[in-house]
Amino acid sequence: MSIKKVGVVGCGLMGHGIAQVAAQGGCTVVVVETEQKFLDTGLARIDKSLSKMAEKAKEKGGNFEAAPVRARISGSLERKSLADCDLVVEAIVEDLGVKNKLFAELGALCKKETIFASNTSSFPIAEMAKASGRPSQFVGLHFFNPVQLMKLVEVVRTDATSEEVFAQARAFGETCGKSPVACKDTPGFVVNRLLVPYMAEAMKMLDRGDASAQDIDTAMKFGCGYPMGPFELTDYVGLDTTLSILQGWVKRYPNEPAFKIPAVLEKLVNEKKLGRKSGQGFYKWEGDKRT
Ligand code: CAA
Ligand code: NAD
Repeated sequence: MSIKKVGVVGCGLMGHGIAQVAAQGGCTVVVVETEQKFLDTGLARIDKSLSKMAEKAKEKGGNFEAAPVRARISGSLERKSLADCDLVVEAIVEDLGVKNKLFAELGALCKKETIFASNTSSFPIAEMAKASGRPSQFVGLHFFNPVQLMKLVEVVRTDATSEEVFAQARAFGETCGKSPVACKDTPGFVVNRLLVPYMAEAMKMLDRGDASAQDIDTAMKFGCGYPMGPFELTDYVGLDTTLSILQGWVKRYPNEPAFKIPAVLEKLVNEKKLGRKSGQGFYKWEGDKRT
């Protein structure tokens, strides 16, 4: 079976991008949200990104047809719209209880061939696979932010994932224009096991007063050639998402110092300063731009 119809659950920072790249790869996509206003925001983001791509292609003398891509994407508030999908990718809030509940519902609702995937940053894929009741048809598909521009997808298999499902998930990653890497079901897979402790360590430097956020960012950009420093990147990812990742790990691995939660992260999340998506994190943001 090749993947033709894709369901995406959650149309936030990640979900809107996943829906878009799947449609760019030729799939028909239905994206499901909890409320109309979230769906509207996500679909508007897709529109903006597609027109940016068309504009860029034109500048380079090429052509990018946005309309047929957009026409392959529909939005819904009904989970039953996912019932006949070949693949459903979950990109909802980083909360294992909420994800498990969703997969239990999807397991009961979707056709028996449907493959399930989670875009989780940190939770064990095997736990969600168990909740879905379809462990052999379950993978992690971990895309990177911003999905439209980042070329990587981590394809995560558990001990129960079938070879055929893994191969289909990998092929889907390629259909989306990504370079897939195979990962085991370990905390943070490859990228986040390295990246999130690095971001947390930068925040601990800030907590200790070793340097300012701006200077740490400048140091990592100009000293290491990173496109963003750790604070700008945390604002980009979302402070709430970063905190949820660390909280999940601290619960499972309480003795791992790399997963210790920085005080400044908890403080800013408590103040609802979530980064770019809320207009304020370590920096102030206006839309997609740092002010
Ligand atoms: N859709 C379409 N086009 C877009 C776009 C979008 N969503 N966003 C930006 N673009 C276009 C811009 O219009 C711009 O076009 P021009 O070159 O024609 O001007 C181009 O892409 C580059 O964008 P910018 O000028 O805004 O910015 P940039 O050159 O600084 O690149 C970036 C932006 C690719 C995001 C770069 O800063 C970068 O790589 N940052 C690091 C991102 C990163 O590390 N992501 C991983 C986060 S961790 C994660 O995702 C995992 C997890 O689980 C938490
Ligand atoms: P987000 O908060 O931007 O979006 C989540 C969306 O899911 C919201 O629009 C919310 O309304 C919706 N939602 C919540 N519960 C739902 C449900 N039961 N049904 C349908 N929709 C629901 O979050 P995000 O940053 O897009 O993260 C989504 C997932 O992707 C998380 O698991 C996160 O760890 C992972 N992830 C995030 C990043 C990142 O940089 N932000 C990168 C890779 C992976």
